[in-house]
Amino acid sequence: MRLLSVRLIVSLILGIALVSSGFSYYEVLGEKRALRSDVERRDEILGESLVGNVERSWNAGSDKELKRLVQRFGNREHLLGVAIYDRQGALVAVTPELEKTLTVSPPPVTQAITLGHEESSFVRLGTLPVHILALPIRRQDEVLGGLAVVHDVSYIRAQILLVWRQTFFRVLAQVFLIVLITLLIVRWSITGPIARAALWMRALRTGKISFRQEVPDHLDMFRPLAREVATMAESLSHARNAAENEARLREAGESMWTADRLSVQLRTRLDDSHLFVVSNREPYMHQRNGKVLDVVVPPSGLVTALEPVLNACDGTWIAHGSGNGDAEVVDAHDRLRVPPEDPRYSLRRVWLTKEEEEGYYYGFANEGLWPLCHIAHTRPLFRAADWQYYQDVNRKFTAAVLEEIENVAKPVVLVQDYHFALLPRLIKEKRPDARVAIFWHIPWPNPEAFGICPWQRQLVDGLLGADLIGFHIQSHCNNFLQTVDRVVESRVDWEHFSVLRQDHRTMVRPFPISVAFTGDDAAENNNHGFNYLDRSALMRGLGVEATFMGIGVDRVDYTKGILERFLAIERFLEKYPSYQGKFTFVQIGAPSRTHIKRYHDLLAEVEAEAERINWRFQGGKWKPIVFLKRQHSHQEIEPYYRAADLCLVTSLHDGMNLVAKEFLAARQDEQGVLILSQFTGAARELRDALLVNPYDIDQTAEAIRAALEMEPEDKQLRVQRMRKVIKEHNIYRWAGNLITELCEVRLDAPEDMQEKSRARVSVA
Ligand code: G6P
Repeated sequence: MRLLSVRLIVSLILGIALVSSGFSYYEVLGEKRALRSDVERRDEILGESLVGNVERSWNAGSDKELKRLVQRFGNREHLLGVAIYDRQGALVAVTPELEKTLTVSPPPVTQAITLGHEESSFVRLGTLPVHILALPIRRQDEVLGGLAVVHDVSYIRAQILLVWRQTFFRVLAQVFLIVLITLLIVRWSITGPIARAALWMRALRTGKISFRQEVPDHLDMFRPLAREVATMAESLSHARNAAENEARLREAGESMWTADRLSVQLRTRLDDSHLFVVSNREPYMHQRNGKVLDVVVPPSGLVTALEPVLNACDGTWIAHGSGNGDAEVVDAHDRLRVPPEDPRYSLRRVWLTKEEEEGYYYGFANEGLWPLCHIAHTRPLFRAADWQYYQDVNRKFTAAVLEEIENVAKPVVLVQDYHFALLPRLIKEKRPDARVAIFWHIPWPNPEAFGICPWQRQLVDGLLGADLIGFHIQSHCNNFLQTVDRVVESRVDWEHFSVLRQDHRTMVRPFPISVAFTGDDAAENNNHGFNYLDRSALMRGLGVEATFMGIGVDRVDYTKGILERFLAIERFLEKYPSYQGKFTFVQIGAPSRTHIKRYHDLLAEVEAEAERINWRFQGGKWKPIVFLKRQHSHQEIEPYYRAADLCLVTSLHDGMNLVAKEFLAARQDEQGVLILSQFTGAARELRDALLVNPYDIDQTAEAIRAALEMEPEDKQLRVQRMRKVIKEHNIYRWAGNLITELCEVRLDAPEDMQEKSRARVSVA
């Protein structure tokens, strides 16, 4: 740094001195030129006025008069005198001071006599610099001699030296001031911020601050750099944690799943192959808002769960490009690398027309299959036109998958959810060498309930194209196998939980999905420096004052039991009035599928219900329910999870429900109580939650009271046990088990495959 400053100063001095001297040189030159031309002008005026008198006296033959004339010009300011010569150059008359030096005519006079016109030049008389103006003396046209006006110009040199001296001091002052100002500017605007940035980076590196924290304002000029550094710090911290974790696991001989273990596992299992995930919802949507292109992570349990898997193994995720700016960022093959901040895998976007989206997504998937599979008393709607679009879109996605796996030997394809029941068979028909699994993220109802779907046979048949079908829990597997038994020609093997249909075997297994929790608090410490005592600050931010806080996080969906939850809160406040003014419930509700009337109406109902209950109880700065009606990022939700006394998950029916697991993962303090609906898949694993029947309003109200009054030791024990469960059954284990199981499936023998393909061709 010191060497740098010396170099900077020396270069500044040299640079400024050079530039300043260059300018001064031209200035001095100009000054010299001006002084010289002043002398020339003055001599010219004098010479011209004198030559007339000289000519008259010469013609009158008066030598006396000539001498008198020349004597008059001695001793004037810088004027040395005048001299008169005859035609041969002999001196006729001269100012006495010049008598000795101008005995012979100087060259300008000789030239003026010879050429017959005025001559002017700067010459030296001995050592003295002078200016001589020579004029011819005439009688009519005849040149009789010459007149010389001689000026001492040594003062010009003195003057120039003075200017140089002044210039020197000016340059010196300039150099000093400019160097000083530059150094101050550099210190204020460069070295100062660099030093601060270095401090910030050190804090980041040593983990004193989180890399998820926003870059501080005073580092504004380094923002792009700082972001890169934060990303680097994040990767570094992950690598460090992974290494530590690995060592810890080896030490403890534990069989815990981490991102790194999953990626090693996938590399060995997949061999040279690649993992392809297909889902309707994409992990990142690009939304164009005027000039800004925002990146949005949609509220979806499926996205929350799968993102860490893709991050761990650099696969390809094929999904519907539903953002209005999605098409702007893809390459010629509709692909892009994500996550945008730190690309780790490929996203292939599939485009749907408005009609396709309407029929397949809103219609068949969400007005038909969603209520069909969730027993939540919303009637499924089955329209033939929607079914047609569902088939078309399944074919469209099949084409995209086939394109992606075209040059991949033995690809592994994980199809996701109820949007793509037909995909497994469609893919296997074209690529029998592909290993295909489908994971059904929502419940599978009993065969009677499923039986109302007019196309149940086609759906089940499509699913049975897969090598492996996954559900969250065993009872969904059982329901599915019973449905298969009733609907299609096949052999269900209850002992091995598989189905044999048309010589193809499909395994059916439970894989409880989870979150990316490894129990490594350092790795998961993304609390933005949030302190548990900040609860009141969090509440103040919402404009509320309360002693106790509850949290609920859901898509606003009729399966989530949000209205039932609000009724339970009302009942609780009614039954235990001492909590009025003290307990506030924060409901984060992401509007979802609002294009469907049922969802649109529900959003209004939830809002109205919160308002009704608030109106009934609120007072002063307190109100019972804060409804935050917008999608929140995981980072925004985290402080609420950490600050809450309890978390309410009251789904009327839910495949798994990851909010329950996210809440526990966030509770490093081992406090807080989870109230969980017994109708969620999560209730099978999280036995230490306060399990409730969400339809039983009184029971949920009691659970709220029990949660608020539970002893801290009891809370700790429960949270500890549940955190252990999700740590051991995290998303890496889910993916690891699913893929291991899929890779162990014996694919049909190649001859059989050829046979089947031939059969298909002949049928076609
Ligand atoms: C459930 C489904 C997912 C879906 C998510 C969000 O979790 O199982 O497939 O992505 O809800 O719903 P959306 O319709 O917005 O994708």
